[in-house]
Amino acid sequence: MTSAAVRPPGPPRRATPNLLRMLFTDRLALMSRTASRYGDAVRIAIGPKQLYLFNHPDYAKHVLVEANDNYRKGIGLAQARRALGDGLLTSEGELWRRQRKAIQPALQQKRIDAQAGVVAAEAGELARRLAARIGGGPVDVAGEVTRMTVGVLGRMLLHADLGPAAVLAHHFDAVQDQAMFEAVTLEAIPSWLPLPGQRRFRAARAALRRLAGQVVDQQGSGVLAEALAGAGGDRAQARDEVITLLLAGHETTASTLGWTMAMLDRHPDVAERVRAEAAQVLGDRLPAAADLHRLVYTGNVVQEVMRLYPPVWLLPRVAVAADRIGGYPVPAGADVVVCPYTLHRHPEFWPDPERFDPDRFEQSRAAGRPRYAYLPFGAGPRFCVGRHLGLMEAVFAVAVLCRDLRLSVVPGHRLVPEAMLSLRIRGGLPMSVRPA
Ligand code: HEM
Repeated sequence: MTSAAVRPPGPPRRATPNLLRMLFTDRLALMSRTASRYGDAVRIAIGPKQLYLFNHPDYAKHVLVEANDNYRKGIGLAQARRALGDGLLTSEGELWRRQRKAIQPALQQKRIDAQAGVVAAEAGELARRLAARIGGGPVDVAGEVTRMTVGVLGRMLLHADLGPAAVLAHHFDAVQDQAMFEAVTLEAIPSWLPLPGQRRFRAARAALRRLAGQVVDQQGSGVLAEALAGAGGDRAQARDEVITLLLAGHETTASTLGWTMAMLDRHPDVAERVRAEAAQVLGDRLPAAADLHRLVYTGNVVQEVMRLYPPVWLLPRVAVAADRIGGYPVPAGADVVVCPYTLHRHPEFWPDPERFDPDRFEQSRAAGRPRYAYLPFGAGPRFCVGRHLGLMEAVFAVAVLCRDLRLSVVPGHRLVPEAMLSLRIRGGLPMSVRPA
């Protein structure tokens, strides 16, 4: 039994320099090691900051679902707000409720299914671009899949030409680098200092605002125009909403796709099963909405990739009022995190957690698993609003790429996850392309 005064266990004060170093260089190891050493509730004291890591499905349910009113968005996202403004991802309270109500219908399954052809066409384009490189030098597949996910957002949601995806991705990189820098330096460095990262951030934010402003001005009718109008608010608010949808909607899906192609290269037996399923379900054609339920194994592969490499690896929150979780007191103002990356490797719920095994998601094996042991899309009221679109993009693209091509990571390129706002592959994903 834990008494009121007992705090969750955690690394001793003298570990602070080491923790700080890990916060900069290896955030995933920081989370994994503390969770495996100290258990399901950990208090990580780093200088003046206290981080409460809760690594159990019941605790995740408490923070994200049952007591969600008591938790607002925290570390990293709080910093990203300087670029995203009060868009749907970062807003709170009444404003968030209004935005969610206005935007959710535009992304619901029925609406997305009706436009599945756009996703399929972008997946087909991606395969064609890569096929053009057969026999040539390596291609950065991370960049190519980003082109696809930006293309989908532009054509399906925003009805706008977003310009070259690489330019957009570059601006978002500058924004994220700075948000992460501010988060890991615990906001100790004032944002008005003219440091290079800060200058890059300002320039990128200005460019994103210009682009998003043009998108807003181009909206005639259409799904997003309705949503933006429904959310109330002025042009600046609509612009923030567009920047938010662009960030939340392209990088997560691109991360899933990049990791999936890398894992299929590492696991040729799995790739072979995906290829066979795609050939059987699709033949030579592009996927349609109804195929999503037929590409069962491909779906399981995508789920297993998001288990090991959840694009949103951390769900950061701040406790508004004092709370109790797992019997431990959580003070008002505490930074509380649920970490899908560690939760998805919790040995109690995921036997042999490091093993890549898509069959874990077969219905019979998934049946007894607690619902909140798997959170690639978050949970509770702030659950991902773009889940159906993200899954459709991932499953369609994986099926088409696998059916048509063989992609291999260039020898010597290590697959090291890099925990930014989303989980990237450090140094991109150079792959060579051969016919299937
Ligand atoms: C595989 C792809 C995706 C993954 C893994 C993913 C993951 C997530 C997660 C974990 C959250 C919750 C964050 C939190 O609670 O702090 C979230 C929220 C959100 N996602 Fe996604 N997402 C994906 C695709 C998309 C797409 C395609 C869009 C839009 C077109 C999108 C838009 C959003 C927005 C706007 C939110 C904030 C929702 C709110 O707070 O009400 N996501 N996403």
